[in-house]
Order: sequence, then structure tokens, then C-alpha cells
Amino acid sequence: MADGSSTWVATPNIALIKYWGRRDAALNLPCNSSISITLGEEVQTKTSVDFDPKLARDELFLNGKKAGAEETKRAARVLNVVREKAGIAAKARVVSSNNFPTKAGIASSASGFAALACASCDAAGLKMGRKELSILARMGSGSACRSVLGGFVEWKAGKQRGGRDSYSVQLAQKSHWKGIVDIVAITDAGRKKIGSEKGMDITVKTSKLFKKRLLEVPSRLSRMRRAIRERDFEALAALCMEDSDSMHASMAESRPPIVYLNETSKKIMRVVREMNARGGRSVAGYTFDAGPNAHVITRKKDAKKVGAMLRKIRGVERLFTCGVGGGPRKAAY
Ligand code: DP6
Repeated sequence: MADGSSTWVATPNIALIKYWGRRDAALNLPCNSSISITLGEEVQTKTSVDFDPKLARDELFLNGKKAGAEETKRAARVLNVVREKAGIAAKARVVSSNNFPTKAGIASSASGFAALACASCDAAGLKMGRKELSILARMGSGSACRSVLGGFVEWKAGKQRGGRDSYSVQLAQKSHWKGIVDIVAITDAGRKKIGSEKGMDITVKTSKLFKKRLLEVPSRLSRMRRAIRERDFEALAALCMEDSDSMHASMAESRPPIVYLNETSKKIMRVVREMNARGGRSVAGYTFDAGPNAHVITRKKDAKKVGAMLRKIRGVERLFTCGVGGGPRKAAY
């Protein structure tokens, strides 16, 4: 029996084949399926949910500060579904903190909403499977639906109007390919200028390249599934760079143009490509979300070399290295 409160830890995920563009904004239904790696607990969000009948309204605290109306409303999209399913009326106090910079292109919304979905269900005494949790997390943030599972994950775009077929499935467990790491190079820890939701809606409406991207993604998805299945790092690195480049080109071709990358991001792209060419093999692959911070995917055996090279680039403020994570878990408060 739940006592009305629960705490969960979840981690962000890095998409190798990106989600960008919604076919339904209210339900966060994507235009295409996407594939990601759930990151290890080097980067994590811890979220506590307490359903308290004495509260007049939902309260959200993010990294020690009371959140604004907009963010609290977004959390309520998840809490409302849980209240309805559990048949409870109590408002909730949500306390959430990250150990990494918020809104910097490292999807804090993904770990945040995955942790919120798990903690709020548990606090309400609901037993939900991963599919239901994934759909619930999706209500808060699209990419969050991939963070309810560990290892290598695919978010199936689905076709149905109500989004019952738009959820994540695990392609492989963390133990399938432990040798992969994501070196995150912070090039600007500030808040992003255009939020993802607004940015993707502009791209869908105005970018011709985005239409072309949607035709190419299915083939990249199937090649990425194979690369993961066969632990083919060469293919994984090439495909993740190709997909990141395709997403950022579609953004740049939107009207008004949407540009998340900065000069340091571009330098990182060049250096990674040069390093691969020099080595005659794929040492690493870069990918960028809706921000200028690089995720450089590499193998543990090459991580030291890749880290040293990134550290030399002017404009790289900080590096941290994450392994593959096992998905959300219940924690002590
Ligand atoms: C560029 O669903 O994470 O990271 O909730 O506003 O952060 P926010 O949006 P979100 O979309 C961002 C998509 C992306 C690519 C990806 O993770 O697939």
C-alpha cells in the first residue's frame, strides 16, 4: 500500500536517431520513431512526489527553487492522469533536482518526466507496466518516454490518433554493450534560446529539408537497430552523426532559421571527423540535441584519447563521461 509519497531516480537519454517534429502537440506524438541510449547515473534527476490532501494546488520545486506556473502546469499534465487512474483528488508536492545543468541541451526534461511518471504512480499506489509509464512520461516531454527504460531504446512513433501505440520499447539491455560511453562536452551551460516544442513546430511548418528527412529516417532506424544488435560501432557512429547533421540542417533551413550550435560545437564536429579520418576507423561519433553541447559517443577503450582531444578545444568548458544506464529506480528520499 502506498503511503502517498515516493522518490525515484531517472537518467537522461541521448538520441542516436532524433525525435524532432510532432504530429500532435497536445499529446506529444512524434512524426518519426527515434532510438536512444539511456545514460548512466553520472547524470541523474531525483524526484519525490507527495500527494497531500492539505495542499490547495500542485507545487513543484526544481533544484531548490519554486517553479513557475508554466513548468508546474506541465508537471500537472502527468499528475492529472495519475490522479484520474488512481481515483485520488489530493494535490501533490513535487521536489526534483538534477546533478547537471538544466535546459542546456542535455535533456533534463527527459530524466525529470521519467522520474515524475515513476514516482507519481508509485506514490498513488498504481502498478503500471513500462508501456504505460512510457506513455505517461511522454505527456510531459516526448523524449522522456525513452528514459523509462534502460539500455538501448526505441520510441515507436505509432499511428493512432490517441497515441496508445506511441511508446518506447527496449532494443537491448545495458549489459548487451557496456563498452559505450557518452562524453558530454559543455560549450555553453546557459538556458537554450528557443524551447524544443516551439522549435520543432516551426521546423515542421516551414522546412522543406525536414520533409526530406522524414523520408530518410526509416532506413537510418533499421540500420541503427542492426548496428546495436551486432555491436557495430563503425555503423553506430556514422549513423548518429548523419542523423544529428540532418536534424540541425532542417532546423537551420526553417523560417526563421533555428540555430542551436555555436562555433565550439562546429569545431568539435570537425575535430571528431578529422580524428576518424586520421585513425582510418570510427573512433567516435558526435550528436547534438536542441543545444550547443556535444555528446561524443565512443568506446571505453578510446575514451581517454577522445577526452584529451576534446579538452584541447577552445570553448569547451567542461567534460563529463556517462556510461549506459539501467533505467529508473526507486530511491530513498
Ligand atoms: C532534440 O521532448 O526533450 O532532444 O521536453 O522541450 O526538452 P523538451 O523536448 P523533448 O525534445 C527534444 C528532442 C531532442 C532529440 C531527441 O531527444 O530525440
